[in-house]
Amino acid sequence: MTEIEIARLAARKAGGVLLDYWQRGFTSREKTNAGFVTDADVAAEKVIVETILAERPEHAVLGEEEHTADVAAEHLWIVDPLDGTTNYAHQLPHFAVSVAYYHRGVAQCGVVWNPARDDWYEATRGGGAWHNGERVQVSNATRLDQVLIGVGFYYDRGAMMEATLAAIADLFRQQIHGIRRFGTAALDLCHVACGLYGAFFEYQLSPWDFAAARLILEEAGGTVTTCLGDPLPLEKIHVLGSNGALHPAVLEIVQRHVLGGGEAERR
Ligand code: IPD
Ligand code: CA
Ligand code: CA
Repeated sequence: MTEIEIARLAARKAGGVLLDYWQRGFTSREKTNAGFVTDADVAAEKVIVETILAERPEHAVLGEEEHTADVAAEHLWIVDPLDGTTNYAHQLPHFAVSVAYYHRGVAQCGVVWNPARDDWYEATRGGGAWHNGERVQVSNATRLDQVLIGVGFYYDRGAMMEATLAAIADLFRQQIHGIRRFGTAALDLCHVACGLYGAFFEYQLSPWDFAAARLILEEAGGTVTTCLGDPLPLEKIHVLGSNGALHPAVLEIVQRHVLGGGEAERR
C-alpha cells in the first residue's frame, strides 16, 4: 500500500468508529484548558495507529490523545482522530478525522474526512487537492471585501480570545463579507482550499489540527504560514491559511494582534 492508501484506510476506519459512537452514545470529559475528549476520540485514534503500524511498523505516529512522537522523525504520521470534538459532543455533525504523512518534516499526503456528511478532502504532494473526487482550487479573490474569513478560537477565555476578537473587528473594518467559526480547524483550512473562505486564522493550533489540511490548501494553490508570516513549524502555533492573493492583507491584520505564546488561559 502507498502512504495515501494507508491514510485513506485509516481515516475510513476511524470515521466508522466515530459514527458508531455518535449513534450509540459516548462519554466525554473536559481536558485541562483544552476542551473535551470522548471515548470516541480515543477509540478512533487507536484504530488509526493500528492501521498505520500494520503497514509501516517502523514509522512514528503522533496522535492528539495517546501517541507522542518526535516531530523530527524521518517518517512521521500526524493524526487528529476527531477534530471538532466540541461539535461532536453537542451533536453537531461538523467534525473530521485528519491523517497526514510527513517525510523529513515535509507533508507528503493528507486526508480530512467528515464522516457525518461524507465530506472527503485529500491531497498528495504535487498531485493537487481533491474534494469528493473533484479537483479543487482556492478562490481568485483579490480584495477582502470579496470574501468570507474563517476563524477559530482556542479553548482560552483570556488574552488569546481578546486578541482574536480584536483581529475580527479589524477584518470587519475592511468590509469582509463575514466571519465564520465552524469549530473544526482541519475543515476550515479545507474550506479555504475549496474557495469557500478567502482565508482562515487561529491564534493557537496544534500540529494534528493542521498537518493534513495545510497540504490540501497548499495543493489547491493557497498559502499557509504562521500569523507572523513565517514557515509553519510542527508545533503549537498560530496559523494563517489563505488563497495566496489575500495573504498579505490578512497577515497585516492578524500579526497586529498575535500574542507571544503561552497566553492561553483557563476559561
Ligand atoms: C479544535 C478544533 C477547533 C479549534 C481548536 C482545536 P479538537 O480541535 O479544531 O476548531 O478552534 O483550537 O483544538 O480539540 O476538537 O480536536
Ligand atoms: Ca483538533
Ligand atoms: Ca481532536
